[in-house]
Amino acid sequence: MAGISLDGIEKAFGETRVLKGVSLAFDPGAFVSLVGPSGCGKTTLLRIIAGLESADRGRVVIGGADVTGRRAADRAVAMVFQNDAHYPHMTVEQNIALPLVMRRLSAMERAPFLGRLVSGTGERRAAIRREVEEAAKLLSIDHLMARRPGQLSGGQRQRVALGRAIVRHPRAFLMDEPLSNLDAALRHDMRRELVDLHRRVGVTTVYVTHDQAEAMTMSDRVAVMLGGVVLQFGTPREIYEQPSTIDVAKFIGSPRINILPGEAGAEGRISLAGQATDEVAPRAAGPLQLGIRPEHLALATEGLAVTVRHVEFLGAEVLVYGQTQTDGTPLIIRLDPAAWEAAPSRETVRVAPLAGRLLAFDAGGHRVGLISAAAARQVQEPAQPVVRVPRYV
Ligand SMILES: Nc1ncnc2c1ncn2[C@@H]1O[C@H](COP(=O)(O)OP(=O)(O)OP(=O)(O)O)[C@@H](O)[C@H]1O
Ligand SMILES: [Mg+2]
Repeated sequence: MAGISLDGIEKAFGETRVLKGVSLAFDPGAFVSLVGPSGCGKTTLLRIIAGLESADRGRVVIGGADVTGRRAADRAVAMVFQNDAHYPHMTVEQNIALPLVMRRLSAMERAPFLGRLVSGTGERRAAIRREVEEAAKLLSIDHLMARRPGQLSGGQRQRVALGRAIVRHPRAFLMDEPLSNLDAALRHDMRRELVDLHRRVGVTTVYVTHDQAEAMTMSDRVAVMLGGVVLQFGTPREIYEQPSTIDVAKFIGSPRINILPGEAGAEGRISLAGQATDEVAPRAAGPLQLGIRPEHLALATEGLAVTVRHVEFLGAEVLVYGQTQTDGTPLIIRLDPAAWEAAPSRETVRVAPLAGRLLAFDAGGHRVGLISAAAARQVQEPAQPVVRVPRYV
C-alpha cells in the first residue's frame, strides 16, 4: 500500500495544454476517483502516474519515493483499461498468470517443451498456479479457468483483467473507465464488486471515470477535473454539499442542480428570482447565480411560482419539471410522492428552498458563503456582554 502525490503536473501535446498544474495527494489505501467531462485530461494524468507518459513539469511521488524519472515497469503499479486486451488463444488461467510467467520464468523456461526439461521450473510454475487461483477466487472466476476469453461475458473478461493486475501485487491500481463497456445492470453490480475488492485487498486505487454517479458512489475522495485543472478534491459529500465552483455544482448530481438568477440586496439579504429568502451573503453584493438541488426545494404557500411542464413518477420520488413564471428558467423539483399528492394544484406550484440549502456563486463562478438571516443579525448586534459579579461581594 502506498500513497501517491502529484505536485504541479503540467503536460502539453504540441500547442494544446492538457494538464495545467495538477497537485493532489492520495492517502495509502484510499479509493480515489478522477472525474470530469471527456477531454479534461483524466487519462493523461493516469498515464503520467503509471509512467506511460512523461510530464513536462511536476513530480510524481509513490510510497514516498520520487518516481518522476522512472520507467513504468519500475513503478510497481498496475493499470486496468476499459478495453483490456486478452490473448485469445490462452485460457483464463494463462491470461491471469502472464505477468508472473514473464517475470519469473526465462524465455527458455517459458517455451512449452523446453520449459518442462529445465529443472526448478516445476516449483515456480506451481507457485504461480497457486497465486493465480487465489486471485481467481477473490474475483469469483475460479470456475472459468479453462475457458478462453472468447467464451466469457464482458463482466467476466473485465474480471480477468483485474486478476492480471492483482497477481502482480502492485502498490497501486490505476483504473481507466474499466466498466464503461458493460451494460448498465452489470456496471452497477461491478461497482459494488470493485469497492468490495478494494476493501479486501486494500491497495490504493485511482479510478478514472466520466460518470459522476460512479465516482460519488465508489470513492473515499473525488477529484473533479475540468480543462486540465482540478476544480475540487474532497469526499463525495463535501463535493455535493459544498461545491467550490458552479462548474462542480453543475457536474455533480443527477438530476442536475437548478441554477437561478439572484441578488444580494440590502445587508446582503439574498433574493431568489425576485423573492426574498432567509439567507444572507455577508461578503457580497449585486447579482449572483443561485444553485438549489432538486431535493432542496419544497412546496410552499408563498415562494417562487413555477409552471409545471412534465412530471415523472419514480416510485420512491416524483420529479416535477417546470419553469419559473418570472423569467422561464427551467427548474426540477424532487418531491416525496405524498407531498406531490397533497399539492393544491398540479399546474402551478409555489416552491421555496429549504433552510441552509441555497448555494450562491459570484460572477466568476466561485461560491459565496451564506448564513441565515437570524445568524446575520447576531453578527451585527452582538449580545450584551455578560458582566460577572463576583459572588463574595
Ligand atoms: N497523444 C496525444 N497527442 C495529442 N493529443 C492528445 C494525446 N492524448 C490526449 N490528447 C488530448 O488531450 C486531451 C485530454 O485527453 P485525455 O485522454 O486525457 O482526456 P480524458 O479526460 O481521459 O477524456 P475521456 O473521458 O474522453 O477519456 C484531449 O483533448 C486529447 O485530444
Ligand atoms: Mg480517458
